[in-house]
Amino acid sequence: MSVSPPESPATGSGRNGGSVPARMTAVTARAYGNVDVLAIESLPTPDVTPGKLLVRVMASSANALDWRLLSGTPLMVRLIMGLRTPKRLIPGADVAGIVEAVGAGVSGFAVGDAIFGESAGGAFADYVVIDAAIVALLPAGVDFVAAGATPVAGLTALQALRTHAAIKVGDRVLINGAAGGVGTFAIQIARALGAGEITAVCSAENAEQSRRLGATRVIDYRGEDFIAAGGQYDVALDIRGNRTAAQIRSILAPGARYVAVSGPMTNRLLGPLPHLLRMKLGLARADASFHQFTAAATPEDLAYLAALLVSGELVPAIDRVVGLEDAAGAIAQIASGHGAGKVAVVPGDRPQQPPDAAA
Ligand SMILES: NC(=O)c1ccc[n+]([C@@H]2O[C@H](COP(=O)([O-])OP(=O)(O)OC[C@H]3O[C@@H](n4cnc5c(N)ncnc54)[C@H](OP(=O)(O)O)[C@@H]3O)[C@@H](O)[C@H]2O)c1
Repeated sequence: MSVSPPESPATGSGRNGGSVPARMTAVTARAYGNVDVLAIESLPTPDVTPGKLLVRVMASSANALDWRLLSGTPLMVRLIMGLRTPKRLIPGADVAGIVEAVGAGVSGFAVGDAIFGESAGGAFADYVVIDAAIVALLPAGVDFVAAGATPVAGLTALQALRTHAAIKVGDRVLINGAAGGVGTFAIQIARALGAGEITAVCSAENAEQSRRLGATRVIDYRGEDFIAAGGQYDVALDIRGNRTAAQIRSILAPGARYVAVSGPMTNRLLGPLPHLLRMKLGLARADASFHQFTAAATPEDLAYLAALLVSGELVPAIDRVVGLEDAAGAIAQIASGHGAGKVAVVPGDRPQQPPDAAA
């Protein structure tokens, strides 16, 4: 990752108010490619605009989304995000930070508020502009690193389990792909929502993490096949998407809900879409429902996650905290397809420690 020399911050002005510096440090991606296309640059601090908030980023984290948008894969991503070069210059969707300026027409937020939410990108930087309609106030007692690691993965896990699977107390839950960002939130949220047995499929390296977060059973995918292991599940959360519909059907209890969070990226143009279509068709005649979705930030769901963070039922599993200069390593971990929990990304002058792991 190349680093250009920092420029001295000029005095701020304009719509952001006098205390915001005119320039900021940011991670940039000016081309599609591997993490080595990322650079650190000094850029003008974005101006707050109507309906938006300018937020001083205290913490963010890397998500699979950042890797997809950086690599421009599957290729259909480029139809929306820029055919030749990415329209999104600065990676980072997760945001936790402090409001520095409030755009025209925004109510409910004031300068100095601590907030968290999901931005359209730009959070691997000192400042980001974020839509005020999709953030929530961060309650006292929740640290910024925990909040900055939560939005994308936490919303995905929450909406998969609560909105789509309509999880019920006592449900037997399978989580395939339990060790990463979404999976570590899903185990804890399933527990908080009253799941009975929670079976986590992950590598042996991450088995202990899954148990600590609330899994009642762990299957090491290298040593045991969760289909062959049998079992009947009321809710199957498939974060990996590496099984056929016939295999999945064999482990679904009557009336089960199968939620496809992702699928294999084997189709260069369409990514997981052909697999998801096959799963939908393959489960059409089963006594089970098929759900596939793209998580969306809502203030209600963010507030729900905030309440779980406050109660301690949710403690993001943060593998490590890195600065902007190591953001490439955070995204590379996602690209590798393996790793434990989340990597938080924190701008340089705001070093913080990961929160205590869940008991
Ligand atoms: N639908 C949506 O709105 C939505 C939102 C967010 C994310 N997603 C998708 O969800 C997927 C996961 O995201 P994430 O943030 O959790 O990624 P992540 O943090 O990179 O986690 C991926 C995890 O997959 C595990 N894994 C690798 N091979 C496996 C296997 N054969 N069986 C079971 N687990 C395996 C790894 O665990 P080990 O290290 O133990 O191998 C790793 O921890 C991505 O494809 C992403 O695009 C979808």
